Amino acid sequence: MQIAFEQAYGHKAEKMYFAPGRVNLIGEHTDYNGGCVFPCALSFGAWLLLAKNDDKVLRYKSLNMPQTYEIAINAIKPQPDKAWCNYALGCLDIIARRHPEAQLKSGYDILYYGNVPAGAGLSSSAAMEVVTARAFTEEMGWQDSDDKAYRTELALIGQACEHEYAGVMCGIMDQFASAQGKKDHAIYLNCDTMDFEHVPVKLEGIKVVISNTHSPHHLDSGAYNDRVRQCKTAVEQINAVKPIKNLAELTPDDWREVEKAITDPVAKKRARHVVGEVARTSEAVEALKNGNIQLFGKLMTASHVSLRDDYEVTGPELDALAEAAWQVDGVLGSRMTGGGFGGCTVSLVRDEAIEAFKAFVGEEYEKKTGLKADFYVAEIGDGVSKLKIEM
Ligand code: GLA
Repeated sequence: MQIAFEQAYGHKAEKMYFAPGRVNLIGEHTDYNGGCVFPCALSFGAWLLLAKNDDKVLRYKSLNMPQTYEIAINAIKPQPDKAWCNYALGCLDIIARRHPEAQLKSGYDILYYGNVPAGAGLSSSAAMEVVTARAFTEEMGWQDSDDKAYRTELALIGQACEHEYAGVMCGIMDQFASAQGKKDHAIYLNCDTMDFEHVPVKLEGIKVVISNTHSPHHLDSGAYNDRVRQCKTAVEQINAVKPIKNLAELTPDDWREVEKAITDPVAKKRARHVVGEVARTSEAVEALKNGNIQLFGKLMTASHVSLRDDYEVTGPELDALAEAAWQVDGVLGSRMTGGGFGGCTVSLVRDEAIEAFKAFVGEEYEKKTGLKADFYVAEIGDGVSKLKIEM
């Protein structure tokens, strides 16, 4: 990476950071409803290298993207045409606004590199935001001495950037997983309170397999923000019979009492998913803690069905992958992960079944969609970190 930086800028980088992408095991579209999620950080993610310059400009280059940008440090604002540098600039703007004592005093030459498969729904943008927040809270002179609180703040900076500079009204899950990840653990996070627990994912003889649809369909901000709005409508209508702030406050028993209050049929389906998914997530985490992986897998599969039928965020490619996976002996559960539409599924597969899984699911998927899937055995890694750099 140092060599790449020198090739890009003609001098060495001074610092280097890494933040991971994530895969969510269960708890989908619950985060912005005040519910729980259960993601893990991955071993792939985004790297950022930087060196100060004397020119009071931010120079942005990426090994993944051809566009380069040069922006004066006193002219930070959203750039047009979905410029990739928005994910970087936005974080600097948010840091300065959330921490007025932290300001940019110099220009920087900056290089990004990411190895999260593009468009896979494994949070390449959250990785970029969190790595930027980590680097620039340090450069701009604000760092919390409490590591846990600091990492949560990095996630909040990344989320605010996504809202304001990318226009996606996302929940906190992706940035939180990237900031707070821990090797071989999933994060059981309550998105209302931000309390969380690292739960070991030690699966004897079972692997977490990610299958990539390579679908041309992507979760766009429109379809995502629609879901956020539909959930708000459901909350408003439920408030006629029961005061709640978030859908996640409702248990399945409450649901039976309040569902009639939702007159909008689409909002009702969305809310039914959220209430069910919140209950499934806590049941799944208990099951994992008790070593009941069979039950965990069944709940993953039930999660997909609910996301397909009630939340309507799966689409033909994700359904084809999940439905083929359910037919394979040695698959404990399989579901879409992340926002949906295109992207990836996550499956629990017994070691001895992995080859058969890849062959059967790959073939069925191609038959149904004409596309080729890709498979990765997930390595669960740590959250954002500063790396040593050779000078
Ligand atoms: C995207 C968002 C997250 C979360 C998931 C769905 O990844 O960025 O905040 O809402 O979709 O669970």
